[in-house]
Amino acid sequence: MNLKNNPEIDIIRASSSKINDVDFENLVFGNIFTDHMLVCDFKDGKWQKPVIKPYEPFLLDPSAKVFHYGQAIFEGMKAYKDDSDAIWLFRPDENFDRFNKSAVRMAMPEVPEEVFLGGLHEILRIEKDWVKKGKGNTLYIRPFMIATGTGVVAAPSSQYRFMIILSPAKSYYSGEVKVIIAEHYSRAANGGIGAAKAAGNYSAQFYPTQLANKDGFQQIIWTDDATHTKLEEAGTMNVFFRINDTLFTAPASERILDGVTRKSLITLAEKEGIDMQVRSVLVWELVEAAKNGTLKEIFGAGTAAVVNPIVGFSYKGEYFELPKVENSIALQLKEKLTNIQYKLAEDPFGWTV
Ligand code: COI
Repeated sequence: MNLKNNPEIDIIRASSSKINDVDFENLVFGNIFTDHMLVCDFKDGKWQKPVIKPYEPFLLDPSAKVFHYGQAIFEGMKAYKDDSDAIWLFRPDENFDRFNKSAVRMAMPEVPEEVFLGGLHEILRIEKDWVKKGKGNTLYIRPFMIATGTGVVAAPSSQYRFMIILSPAKSYYSGEVKVIIAEHYSRAANGGIGAAKAAGNYSAQFYPTQLANKDGFQQIIWTDDATHTKLEEAGTMNVFFRINDTLFTAPASERILDGVTRKSLITLAEKEGIDMQVRSVLVWELVEAAKNGTLKEIFGAGTAAVVNPIVGFSYKGEYFELPKVENSIALQLKEKLTNIQYKLAEDPFGWTV
């Protein structure tokens, strides 16, 4: 793909930039967007020419299917700037592939590579000043697709809109993260849409998470819907457990998102010689390990959250505080991962683009 000056994309430049109004040191995650957005419509059975245009609201018919049936998917990616001002993406093909898997599961059309990845390169070239240098600074990338076709018949839309919007970001969580282990509510079920990045997977978590928030917890660790005995993933992240010096994370499945950060950490842990086991941890194992002192760490992993330590968990009303560990595997892996993402270390895996 020739990424220089892509004639397949129309570009309408914003007349002025908001960038000087932004306090890049005090960003709240996902609140501020850059000057431009990419829009590409699907109609008459095909994708139309993408356009990059000034960021602005747009009109939709009240009967658009996204409003009624939630036919909507998204991805989360980040752009990083190195010391020589080059901009890097981390494993963008993985997001592209997963986006189209989500599209298939939600009966939506797959987005062509030149629109998703080609469009992303083009909009990043235009918005390059919004990617700030320095570890911790990123430009969060939100590609998404919604059903724009009209009519309240419960059937897939015939029209869609694919978009990319960009938001300068630092960390997702701003303080300690404590979690509740789910006993009643579930995130996903076999045969459902848990493996897709479908919008409804996230909104379905809002209510139980609100209940958890009221009790002082930021997230829920979901358990399997059938027995509530297997630990699966946390609201916005996959989750890892360290018992003694073994690291565990649940296998990706129909219920668990195949996270890009998750799979990168598994590879990094294996390379570091850490005993990495991809298997479900049972709730009783976690509680027992917390009680006998062998539970050393729990951490979440995701694009937005990166690697986020969890300081304690609650189960059946009992709270377990995690110990302060000296050689945190979470922090070691985070360092390795972010050094690759920011081009501060060699990338032996060819993950950076
Ligand atoms: C991401 O980590 O990018 C996600 O998509 C999770 C989102 C809910 C913030």
